[in-house]
Amino acid sequence: MSDRAPRPLIVGSGIAGLYVALRVREMGLRPTIVTKGRLEESNTRYAQGGIAAAVGPDDSPARHLADTVRAGAGLVDRAAAQLLTRDAPARIADLVRYGVPFDTVDGRIALGREAAHSRARLLHAGGDATGLSIEETLKRRVLEGGIEVRERTVLRALRPGDRNGPVAVLSLANGTATEIENPRPVVLATGGVGSLYRQSSNPSVATGEGVAIAFRAGALVADMEFVQFHPTAFARAGAPRFLITEALRGEGAVLRNEAGERFLVGQHPDAELAPRDVVTRAIEREIARSTHPWVYLDATALPRELLFTRFPSVSNFVLSHGLDPSREPIPVAPVAHYMIGGVSTDLWGRSSIRGLWAVGEVAATGVHGANRLGSNSLVEGLVFGERAARDLHAPAPGGPKTPRRLVTVPRTEGHGIPEEQELFEEIRGLLWEQVGIVRDGPGLAAALARFEEIGARVEPARSDTLPGPVANAALTASLVARAALLRTESRGAHYRADHPRPKPSGRQHIGLQREAPRRRG
Ligand code: FUM
Repeated sequence: MSDRAPRPLIVGSGIAGLYVALRVREMGLRPTIVTKGRLEESNTRYAQGGIAAAVGPDDSPARHLADTVRAGAGLVDRAAAQLLTRDAPARIADLVRYGVPFDTVDGRIALGREAAHSRARLLHAGGDATGLSIEETLKRRVLEGGIEVRERTVLRALRPGDRNGPVAVLSLANGTATEIENPRPVVLATGGVGSLYRQSSNPSVATGEGVAIAFRAGALVADMEFVQFHPTAFARAGAPRFLITEALRGEGAVLRNEAGERFLVGQHPDAELAPRDVVTRAIEREIARSTHPWVYLDATALPRELLFTRFPSVSNFVLSHGLDPSREPIPVAPVAHYMIGGVSTDLWGRSSIRGLWAVGEVAATGVHGANRLGSNSLVEGLVFGERAARDLHAPAPGGPKTPRRLVTVPRTEGHGIPEEQELFEEIRGLLWEQVGIVRDGPGLAAALARFEEIGARVEPARSDTLPGPVANAALTASLVARAALLRTESRGAHYRADHPRPKPSGRQHIGLQREAPRRRG
């Protein structure tokens, strides 16, 4: 490999980051992965249900496409979804080549089912340890391949660079040393925003700072109002909000209220397998009527052996909290789960900034529309990761289309007051309460005002000082609240109590871009 080979900097180590690193290395580039925790810590690791691809005998990319478009509530970018569903089987073959041990039955790939899929099309590994298995396999390949990895290293800022790409400013996670890179291609694979919500299925690293950093650098972001909530996380007081996979409902588990009734029957023709947003809001309504903040996922009709072989992580987790899922229903409640929007890209992962790509959850390709079909996210990281890798290898000009509804966000002056952890917690609480499952105009406006106030307080006053985690959290949270305030309708994962129906005018993406810097003098 030549010393002059391009050296892309890949920020993040979930499926998208690791896969892009492996693929560009195979193409002769010299990538570096930087990641804020350990190499294996990412949202990918916690994915349970599976990875979607039309590989079953009764399935086809066209069916997968139709389900993706239907789930996306009128906002799916069809070209992106066509690529996703067409290329998914080939990307699964890449995972098999890297050694991911997908589960089989009688020598054939085993396929699970989740809500809003018309076919069983989820490949899984280790039962419900799909993400863990993928993450560990790709990590092993990265290490075997000698790819440079810098753990506990945080991207702090992106600054204007040259034709090679932006300048990345990196710090050790404990803030003891900061380094300014030479301009080089940068691939954001920093994941989503789940952990900025007080109740979340995501690991603590998922705080959405990739969006804040790209936005500050001038990148276009889109679809930020669409944060997907997962209906069923373990909901016992004091226990972590562990995901209880939707694939359990795909196998026949049902939801019951305090009185033991299946409350989704009669609310939607698909009952427990209705789209995620429908199930989530139905649970919220039940909880509002209950004496405790949860409903029950009842898997007691499933054979015990199936529970512990197909869903070992969930079953053993629940058992470790004193409940036997084959005998007792599991208390569950919704949590923040997935960021549908993010840094706007074209179909090659190119952002609006030259030399900056975004892949995986941090990217907004439009492929999920207003509501992501379960298990389409891991495969998104691969399909658009492959395209980004090819583009990094032979870069071509491009970038996202400007959304018809593009809003310029004014710059605010920062006061540079030192950050306090309480502000971070305040942001998490406000997002959950006012920018959560059910929103309304006054709540969103109040939350946005407070996020901006916090941002103005902690955002550095001088351009040579780096924004910290609270400044990033306030900025990302303000983008979610602003977009949610602008979307005066309900669609997919975004529900406004004051505008409870979709509107024809809402069939467009909302883009946000920072006001350009004022010219001096
Ligand atoms: O329920 C689940 O296993 C979640 C899957 C997903 O979010 O894609």
